[in-house]
Amino acid sequence: MKNKRSSAWFQSPEYYGFSRRAWLRSEGFNRDIFEGKPVIGICNSWSELNNCNAHLREVAAAVKRGVLVAGGVPLEFPTISLGEMFMLPTTMMFRNLMAMDVEESIRANPLDGVVLLCGCDKTTPAQLMGAASANIPSIVVPGGPMLAGEWRGQRLGSGTDGKKLFDLFRTGRLTEEEWCEVESCIARSTGHCTVMGTASTMTSLAEALGMTLPGCANIPAPDSRRLAVAELSGRRIVEMIEPGLTPSRIMTREAFENAITVLMALGGSTNAVVHLIAMAGRLGIRLTLEDFDEISRRTACLVNVKPSGEYLMEDLFHAGGVPAVMGRIGDLLHRECMTVNGKKVGENFGAVSNDAVIRRRDQALYNEGGIAVLYGNLAPDGAVIKQTAASPELLTHRGSAFVFENHEEMLAGVEREDLPVDRNSVLVMRNAGPKGAPGFPEWGHIPMPRKLLREGVTDVVRISDARMSGTSYGTVVLHVAPESAVGGPLAAVRTGDEIVLDVGARKIELVVPAVDIERRLGEFTAPKRHYERGYGRLFLDHVTQANLGCDFDFLIPGYE
Ligand code: FES
Repeated sequence: MKNKRSSAWFQSPEYYGFSRRAWLRSEGFNRDIFEGKPVIGICNSWSELNNCNAHLREVAAAVKRGVLVAGGVPLEFPTISLGEMFMLPTTMMFRNLMAMDVEESIRANPLDGVVLLCGCDKTTPAQLMGAASANIPSIVVPGGPMLAGEWRGQRLGSGTDGKKLFDLFRTGRLTEEEWCEVESCIARSTGHCTVMGTASTMTSLAEALGMTLPGCANIPAPDSRRLAVAELSGRRIVEMIEPGLTPSRIMTREAFENAITVLMALGGSTNAVVHLIAMAGRLGIRLTLEDFDEISRRTACLVNVKPSGEYLMEDLFHAGGVPAVMGRIGDLLHRECMTVNGKKVGENFGAVSNDAVIRRRDQALYNEGGIAVLYGNLAPDGAVIKQTAASPELLTHRGSAFVFENHEEMLAGVEREDLPVDRNSVLVMRNAGPKGAPGFPEWGHIPMPRKLLREGVTDVVRISDARMSGTSYGTVVLHVAPESAVGGPLAAVRTGDEIVLDVGARKIELVVPAVDIERRLGEFTAPKRHYERGYGRLFLDHVTQANLGCDFDFLIPGYE
């Protein structure tokens, strides 16, 4: 067999050829496993500290079956896992660490191909970044979305509905007992969140990129077809070795343009902007925020799944999943791109079986894509807004800023009954970006001030240099770059300044004379660094800004 990298480890005539064979046989393998069989790594982000990925050992067993049936040798190995609900200060702080773990585990070991098992938000981009850099044949098997929540006749989507119900609870419209009931039934199984949050977005985009078997991404975690597709993926990776079907042959610039187009049709998470830029960067492909905005303007949002729409991921799966979405926008896609099943993108298109979930283009949910990119004196290097999850009447807005210096101040402030804000205010939070927070956490969905909720106001314009969970909603401007902690213009905003948001014109402006902004920034002093040692220091020294994907500069080929 050609392209058998593992031969260098096991067929070496030196002592180490013998010892590697002998030591692997200590696991109970017979000698014939070294006779021409490819070694397939199963890169598993299983962890009990990551409920979304807690079933991945079962998925790995199905992959192993497939590898064995196809004549390969499966070897499962762990990497760190990033459980969105548990890790502090934020999983985003560790995405690059996981990507390095994945890359080096693949590169250092006798592997001919690798199957990547992922699910929760950052685990998919981290594995794809690592696999892109290692660049041996790779196939992704996500764990799939969890079952829909059920509560008193309502279907609940983890994340989105939890936040909505929490606002009812904190304003006394839900009892302690009701809130307790919600806790017990909103997340009914393992698997990632079941709305079009970051996890569903990134696993769907792995499929749009051509890195999963068609139809794989949206199968619910407990569905038997999840294991069946895992087995098929195990068989397929063995076939990918000989032709050398590596990530760099699949994840081309055109494939990333396909992924951005699908992102817009899905109404997917704003976090995908950061992750796709980082993933492409590993392959020397420079995606820019302009690429996203340009594609957004020509791609309608069709997928009617929360938080932009009404349904849940299970419904999207039954409606045909990613192949059906791609089929519906086939004329906007590069159909010639190669995918892991050896077919071209256009050959993997499917049919839509429910037009309410995947809308027809003449009945789009929104005429543009879910994400718009904003520029202006407040965000010279760009900011993003999920326009499909915003209030239409606030997409053009002029209001007076109320500034929170940091996350703690914001959390205390929104609970104040005397907070001097009204429905026209613009809430600004700084020191929440990659270096300032640190780690670029999902703090951007600033909770609605209690006082306004009592008045029946459910949305105001909110601006920060943070990210936002893909499950969130509201008129929320995110990823302001450069961030305030490095002296970006957000650091110059003062309470009472006027701010203009015009999403149609892609503008975010601070209505303060340039000379005053410059003077204020001249007085800026950088906040104290959060880390002086360890991984935190490495992160602060090397993380790039949001518009560049927040990868480490030294991991991006050609970065200057
Ligand atoms: Fe893992 Fe939502 S917490 S995907």
